[in-house]
Parts: sequence; C-alpha cells; structure tokens
Amino acid sequence: MYPHFDEFLESRLNIYGHSLKEPQKLAKAILKLSDHFIRGVHQEDYWKDSSHMAAYISYFAILNFERLQSVFKEARLQRFLINASVIGDWGSGLGSALWAMQTQCARVFINREPKIFTYDKSGEALKEQRHWLNFFKLNAKGIEVTQNSLSVLDHSVDTLVMSYVLNEYTQYPVIPEHVQRLILVEPSTNQAGRNLLKFRDTLIEKNWFAWAPCTHQEFCPLYNQSGKDWCHHRVNWQKPDWFYELENHLPMGNDTLTLSYILMSKEKPIVDLSGITRVIGDEQPERGKTRQAICRGMNREFLSWLDRNRLKPGLRRGDLIRIKDAIQKPKELRISFMTDFEVIKLDD
Ligand SMILES: C[S@@+](CC[C@H](N)C(=O)[O-])C[C@H]1O[C@@H](n2cnc3c(N)ncnc32)[C@H](O)[C@@H]1O
Repeated sequence: MYPHFDEFLESRLNIYGHSLKEPQKLAKAILKLSDHFIRGVHQEDYWKDSSHMAAYISYFAILNFERLQSVFKEARLQRFLINASVIGDWGSGLGSALWAMQTQCARVFINREPKIFTYDKSGEALKEQRHWLNFFKLNAKGIEVTQNSLSVLDHSVDTLVMSYVLNEYTQYPVIPEHVQRLILVEPSTNQAGRNLLKFRDTLIEKNWFAWAPCTHQEFCPLYNQSGKDWCHHRVNWQKPDWFYELENHLPMGNDTLTLSYILMSKEKPIVDLSGITRVIGDEQPERGKTRQAICRGMNREFLSWLDRNRLKPGLRRGDLIRIKDAIQKPKELRISFMTDFEVIKLDD
C-alpha cells in the first residue's frame, strides 16, 4: 500500500473505539454500514455514528482507494490531467479519490501543485478527511454543502471527481459550464452502471469526448443494444494481511474489485485510441468456444475463439488490443491462430 498506511489506519480507528486487532468487532460495524448502503437511506449522515466511521475507514475507503487507483492510472496513461489545475472532489467522504490521485498521478503535478476543493454534505466526514489528506501530503479546502446542486462549486474548478456519490442522488446533477473534465466512478451494479452509461451518452451529445474506458465517441453499445448490460472494470489487488483477518468475519469476498467509471472531457483525447478495442468482459466459456465482451464502436460485440484452436489469449478486463484479420460474425469477432493480435501498452 502506501508507506505507514496500516499504522495510520490503526491510529484513526482507535479514535473511534476500534482496532485492526479486533476484526470481529470491526466486521460487525462493516456489516451494519453495508446494510445501510444496501437499504439506500442516503438522507441520514452515516458519518456521525462512530462505528459507521470506523467501518468506512477500514473497509469502504480502502476498497475505493484500490478501485480509484486503477482509474487514476488510466488517467495518467492517457495524460487526462495534463491541463487540470483546479480539482473538485464532490461527495469526497474521506478523500479516497484524492489518495489515489496522489499515488498514481503525483508526477503529473510536479512543479505545479493543483488547487483542490473537497465538498461533502457531512461536516464529520470533512473533519476526518483532513487527517487523511495530511497523511497523503495533500492540501485541500474542505467545504460543507447543504444542497445537491453543483452550482456552489468554486468557479475555478476545471476537473470534477465524483466517486460513489451519484448513486446517492435521485437524479444526476447539472454539470456547471466551467467544468472541463469529469472523473465519475460508480458501484458496478446494473442500475448505477447503466445510469452512468446513459449520462455518458448525454455528454457525447453535448460534444464531450469519452477518454476511458471507451476507445470511441459513438453512443454506448451496452446501453443502447441491451436492456441489462452495463460496463464495468475489474481490479486485481494485493490484500493486506489485516484485511484477510477481517474477511474471515464477513460474508462478502473481495478477491477482485469491480467498478464502473468514465473519464470524460471537453478536450479531444491526447492518446489516439481509434481502431483499438477495449476488453470489457471476463472470459465466458460456452459449448465449443469462449466469448469475451469487447468494445470498439457502436456495436455490442464479443471476441470469440473455438476450443479446437487451443487459443489462450489471457485477456483481462481493461486491456487494450489491436486485432487484424479476425473473422466478423454476427456480434462476434472470431479469432484463430491466423489472427494478428496485439495487447497495447500505453507509454507511461
Ligand atoms: C459513499 S461515500 C463516497 C465517498 C468517497 N467519494 C469515496 O469514493 O470513498 C458518498 C459521500 O457523498 C456524500 N454526499 C452524498 N450526497 C451528497 C450531496 N448531495 N452533496 C455532497 N455530498 C454528498 C456523503 O456524505 C458521503 O461522504
């Protein structure tokens, strides 16, 4: 993780009457807060309850930090933040998105520290956040907000981050004109994921550009050609030892983490991904063949290969690939040992 992260986490947990050395007690608090999220009672300020706070610190913030590192890594590889100078993190909670920005994109901001504003409707969250941002050596102005509208954003904010907050809204808020780029992250549920895709398409209609995970500017094939699909990414991570202990007392597993995200900007992508395909699904073995969802344009498509060809492409969600000479089948791009096929690594 990050140097001395575990010690710091333990010191913050102790303030709320919890410890990593008491995983059973902590797991109970996590289940309580998880139940609160599942019931969707977002009007209440869950940060006021010290066991909810401990649960968020030790579980939800950690998982979001891991997820967001994959998003900010993509942002770094695509030079997404190169023109960003004022960042707003709306619904910032403990600032997990900014922790991830710091670990993945610090070098983008060498010699030009960005100005950061964090917004949350919970003063308690902002108070705790301050300790975490100090730990990550980040300076930010925290602002407690009392309304859902983004019109209170500081007018200098050019880059807006919203991580795991839009699903707490009944309707997506209007994005103020001064915002030039958006980093939106949502739970990878059918409903939250599809709402995000729908929103992506409304931005495309307003001449915004999709930088990731999309490699194209067409309307989203998953949203438009299926009533149930949603785009989501999967992250492999190295759990710290204490997390294994915690999971012994939890019914949910987190061997891999999923999320739905989009990077959108009013500027054209710097890295030209046109003609490149994004892998957006896991391998799905079927009778005699394997399929894996891919995205490269307006059509909902799968890469497919026959068992008898004994191919093992070993592709993971998020991979970018260049394919030549594949056979176009209805909704399938069939590859064989004849196909010229390459996984693209973007320059870091
Ligand atoms: C699930 S937490 C996500 C926190 C953080 N962004 C993360 O990724 O871990 C959602 C946060 O959004 C805040 N929030 C919810 N609705 C809000 C609104 N309308 N305005 C500002 N903050 C809001 C909540 O108080 C909470 O801190």
